[in-house]
Amino acid sequence: MNPHRKIGDVILKAENISLSFGGVKALTNISLDVREHEICAIIGPNGAGKSSMLNVINGVYHPQEGRVSYKGHVRDSMHAHEAARHGIARTFQNIALFKGMSVLDNIMTGRNLKMHTNFLQQALYWGATQREEIRHRRKVEEIIDFLQIENIRKTPVGRLPYGLQKRVELGRALAAEPTLLLLDEPMAGMNVEEKQDMCRFILDVNDEFGTTIVLIEHDMGVVMDISDRVIVLDYGKKIGDGSPEEVRANPDVIAAYLGTSH
Ligand SMILES: Nc1ncnc2c1ncn2[C@@H]1O[C@H](COP(=O)(O)OP(=O)(O)OP(=O)(O)O)[C@@H](O)[C@H]1O
Ligand SMILES: [Mg+2]
Repeated sequence: MNPHRKIGDVILKAENISLSFGGVKALTNISLDVREHEICAIIGPNGAGKSSMLNVINGVYHPQEGRVSYKGHVRDSMHAHEAARHGIARTFQNIALFKGMSVLDNIMTGRNLKMHTNFLQQALYWGATQREEIRHRRKVEEIIDFLQIENIRKTPVGRLPYGLQKRVELGRALAAEPTLLLLDEPMAGMNVEEKQDMCRFILDVNDEFGTTIVLIEHDMGVVMDISDRVIVLDYGKKIGDGSPEEVRANPDVIAAYLGTSH
C-alpha cells in the first residue's frame, strides 16, 4: 500500500459553525473533522449548505459563529488568499476559468501564489526570474501530463467540452500544490466515461501526492466508491458522518434523500 494512503491526524477542524444570510440559515452548528490524506465527501440535497461549508473552510464566507482550525492554527476569520497560501486549493460548482485563455495559461494562473519575484525583482535579477519561470513551467507541464491533456494544452478553454474544462480546473487547483483540495461537484454534468476519468484522477492525486480531499458530489455511486468518509448535510444541519457503509445505513440520511426525491 502506498504510504500516502495512511490516514493521519486531523488537519482541518470546524467547530460549531453557524452561517446565515439575512433570514436564511445556511449552516447551523456544524462541526466536522478532516484527517490528513483522507478523501471526505460532503453530500446532501440541493440547498443543504454544502458549498457554503467549503466557502467557510477556504475563508470566502465568514461564519457568525464557530471557528475553523487548519493544521492546528485556529482562525476566526481567514481570507481566501491566506487560505490559498496555507495550501488550500479549490474548484467551483460553476467552472471558474478564463475561457479565452489556453489550457496551459489557465493552469499557470494556479501558480500565482508560488511566484515570489515581483516586478522590480524581475528587472533587477533577470536570471533568478528566468529560473523561477522555468520551474513553474515545468510544474505546469507535469500537471498537464498527469491529467493527460497534452493534446489540448494550447486550446482556448472556452472551446473545450464541459468535462475537459472541469479537468483543466482541477489542473489549475493542482498547480498550487495544495495540501487540502476542495472540489465542489467535480463531476456534475459529466457523462459516465468522463466521471470515471475524473474519479481516477481524484484517486491518483490523493494516492500519488498524498493530498487531502474534500469533495461535494451528488452521484452516490461515485461517493460510495471513492470516499473514506461521508458527511451528510440537510437544511444546514449535519445529519450523518461516517464510513460510506455507516452513512448508507443511517435512517436520517435515508429519510432526507427519500424526502427530497419523492
Ligand atoms: N451568497 C449567498 N447569499 C445568500 N444566500 C446564500 C448565499 N450562498 C448560499 N446561500 C443560501 O444558503 C443555502 C445553502 O446554499 P449552498 O449553496 O451552500 O447549498 P448547496 O448544498 O451547495 O446546494 P446545491 O446542491 O444546490 O449546490 C441556500 O438556501 C442558499 O440559497
Ligand atoms: Mg453547492
